[in-house]
Amino acid sequence: MHHNHHRRDADMATLGIIGSGNIGSAVARLAVAADMNLVIANSRGPGTLEDLVTELGPLAKAGTVEEAANQGDAVVLSIPLKAVPDLPEGLLAGKLVLDTSNYYPFRDGRIEELVTSAVTSSEMVRDQLGTDQYVKVFNNITAAHIPALARPEGSSDRSALPIAGDDAAAKAEAAAILNELGFDTVDAGPLAESWRFEPETPAYGRIYFSDPNVSDEQLMDTPPGPTPVQEVQAALDAAARVNVAERRF
Ligand SMILES: NC(=O)c1ccc[n+]([C@@H]2O[C@H](COP(=O)([O-])OP(=O)(O)OC[C@H]3O[C@@H](n4cnc5c(N)ncnc54)[C@H](OP(=O)(O)O)[C@@H]3O)[C@@H](O)[C@H]2O)c1
Repeated sequence: MHHNHHRRDADMATLGIIGSGNIGSAVARLAVAADMNLVIANSRGPGTLEDLVTELGPLAKAGTVEEAANQGDAVVLSIPLKAVPDLPEGLLAGKLVLDTSNYYPFRDGRIEELVTSAVTSSEMVRDQLGTDQYVKVFNNITAAHIPALARPEGSSDRSALPIAGDDAAAKAEAAAILNELGFDTVDAGPLAESWRFEPETPAYGRIYFSDPNVSDEQLMDTPPGPTPVQEVQAALDAAARVNVAERRF
């Protein structure tokens, strides 16, 4: 992990993180490296997060989902898609939310409006949360690659993450937060276009390996590789919409 010792100039005081699994804890590591305060929550309660916040250090606090939502100036939501309706009613209404969700029918169950491609998963989650300040990000990168590829602003080997959203101000704020956390961003367009960086697209997963074209067998032994803006942009441009109903893994 690269610790970013640059001073931050954005006014992001505290990041809320709901979900302390693979992605939530990886983003938490970036946040403390960027000198952000954070409140992290999971489904089992703050008592189960003691080891993690001890490891993260004094900038990190464990909290309830309500504390993470209320104390966060922005909130990273990183829980299984099917768990979103279980969140307390109105929890994130009006909040800037950075959502990492993907939809897997085998995990999340058959959701009619998603398997028919009537809406994207991000449009659905945004509507479930009741916030216009909603950006999809961090859903296209393997959790271990998040700390591995984060770099301070201006680094020659910096990587980019796509973002999608319908609110321009929210997207600009999300890009500023991502910049602090260690990534450039590429605007993939509105939420209706967010399928461009979901599973099975060229911008998903493999793009962050040093050689995205190795066999499945070799992939585990392949290190991550810096993936700049132009590469991500080209992958977004080349994407074709997949049939979500056929997603198997
Ligand atoms: N893993 C990856 O590499 C990856 C990559 C891109 C996108 N994603 C997507 O990002 C999302 C999170 O993935 P993940 O791998 O980080 O998941 P994960 O490791 O399974 O962690 C899920 C977290 O969500 C919490 N949670 C579940 N239901 C909750 C609720 N009702 N209220 C509060 N917290 C709740 C869990 O709490 P407990 O700890 O208490 O169980 C856990 O901390 C998924 O949509 C996934 O598809 C994952």
